[in-house]
Amino acid sequence: MTKKYSYILAITGASGVIYGLSLLKALIEHSYFVHLIVSEPGFTVMKDELDMFKNGYNNEDKAKISNNGNPVISNFDAKQEILNSIKLNLTSSSDIASSDAAFNSYAGMFELLDEKFLESKIASGSAKEVKGMAVVPCSMGSLARIACGISGNLIERAADVVLKEKKRLVVCPRETPLNDIHLKNMLSLYSSGAIILPLIPGFYNKPKTVSDIVDFMTGRILDSLSIENDIYKRWEGYNGKYNEK
Ligand SMILES: Cc1cc2nc3c(=O)[nH]c(=O)nc-3n(C[C@H](O)[C@H](O)[C@H](O)COP(=O)(O)O)c2cc1C
Repeated sequence: MTKKYSYILAITGASGVIYGLSLLKALIEHSYFVHLIVSEPGFTVMKDELDMFKNGYNNEDKAKISNNGNPVISNFDAKQEILNSIKLNLTSSSDIASSDAAFNSYAGMFELLDEKFLESKIASGSAKEVKGMAVVPCSMGSLARIACGISGNLIERAADVVLKEKKRLVVCPRETPLNDIHLKNMLSLYSSGAIILPLIPGFYNKPKTVSDIVDFMTGRILDSLSIENDIYKRWEGYNGKYNEK
């Protein structure tokens, strides 16, 4: 059963799209409905880093349908590719998602919105069910446009709305090294109320796999969205014990 509140998740064209998919999975497993927006460069990076969309990705081919007032990308393949990638890259054999029935139910827990559709419900502050938004990973381009309030696509507009409504916006930049433009934009967004959560994993929990690293970042993002979780090992001081998963 889905919770009363939903979250917006934007995946933009920075390296580390696996973090975005991991957060999608985690939000669904915490029973939140997710309004997912993937930027066009975000799809390109998915293709590059996770070998998704091998048969190409052509946004122009996609018919749009209206679902709960939100224009969504109706192409079943795009949603299915995202689910398949989660299953392939983020699902352990002991995971509940490994059961096909449970996994298939994930499809009903998120909608894939077209970044061009500014008339979407989440482009307005009247969408009271939206609790907050995360941009994971956040490119320097999206960071700059959100910081300046450009609102030229659904990602930028939704972030703008979340800030004006004083809801939680978590922005997860991925770039290195950083120039002064990046740093100024981060400070500007922070001053406007966003949480800047760079995708910089800690190693004090002694990660052994890529999953351990991804889980660490996902857990920190959930913490910043005020969602209780135990998906990563927390530091409990030198005298404490690790919170084993
Ligand atoms: C494979 C690949 C990796 C990229 N990685 C990054 C990155 O880590 N950080 C970044 O700011 N831009 C990165 N870019 C560049 C962005 O995709 C580009 O600036 C794009 O315009 C961002 O658009 P968006 O913010 O609408 O997604 C990458 C591009 C490609 C193709």
